[in-house]
Amino acid sequence: MTDRGLFTEGRSAEVVIDSLGADTDPRLRQILTSLIQHLHDFVKDVQLTESEWEKGIEFLTRTGHTCNDVRQEFILLSDVLGVSMLVETINHRALDHATEQTVLGPFHMVDSPPRELGDTIALDDGGEPCLVTGQVRSADGTPLAGASVDVWQANAEGFYDVQQPGIQPELNLRGLFTTDDEGKFWFRSIVPRYYPIPDDGPVGELLAITGRHPNRPAHVHFIVTAPGHEPVTTHLFVDGTPYIDSDVVFGVKESLIREFPVVDDPERARELGFDNPFRTVHFDVTLLESEVREAAGL
Ligand SMILES: [Fe+2]
Repeated sequence: MTDRGLFTEGRSAEVVIDSLGADTDPRLRQILTSLIQHLHDFVKDVQLTESEWEKGIEFLTRTGHTCNDVRQEFILLSDVLGVSMLVETINHRALDHATEQTVLGPFHMVDSPPRELGDTIALDDGGEPCLVTGQVRSADGTPLAGASVDVWQANAEGFYDVQQPGIQPELNLRGLFTTDDEGKFWFRSIVPRYYPIPDDGPVGELLAITGRHPNRPAHVHFIVTAPGHEPVTTHLFVDGTPYIDSDVVFGVKESLIREFPVVDDPERARELGFDNPFRTVHFDVTLLESEVREAAGL
């Protein structure tokens, strides 16, 4: 019998991989070869039925239809399956004592407004006042003057400004700060609240039928950059927030959790323009020199 290389259950992946043309880009070939192999193994492993296949196609179709200019349901799907966090983790393995990274999230949608050190980013009322302080350093401990500290966060109800146009002031709870001569930054804000990811689409249904909640623990987003250093995209998590052990997108890293202690100091509160008592948090950020990262082949 002639071996025509026809499709069989046993050789299914091999036959499809063999169909890739000789001129296929080598990296694309590597990715597709692995993808086809794993997909075929998956179908065989679970013995996928035709109705399950149809249901999967229908789910992915609805996921696509749920996407628009301000909503990316496929990224959300990647997030809740832990794929976004895995891609982030393997591409930004922490070296030395550099601050660990975590997901960017979908709400860094606008350029953060430049603000002076000490300014408040809370442009409306509500929430517990909080003084945020920190220092940006290189991995050898050198303070990094002139580093950019870009921050954004949800309000005390768990919403970002872009989710509540007309309710929150534009650019509420966002700020772009520049560190002083000692690499220090400080600004005023409020303690953010935990919040649910958008759960009224296919991804929300997936969470519901698998007994998962849609919430992320309370956090402040940071992107910190300095010349000659690798930027860090990360979160500062509020110790004690609900969902710290069950972030729906798996973004929590132990090293990023900080206490937000209460300070009862009427005079200091007056200086800051806060009601007394107020909360504080300190978050130092360590950046890796670009050369170090390149030398490590990362
Ligand atoms: Fe967030």
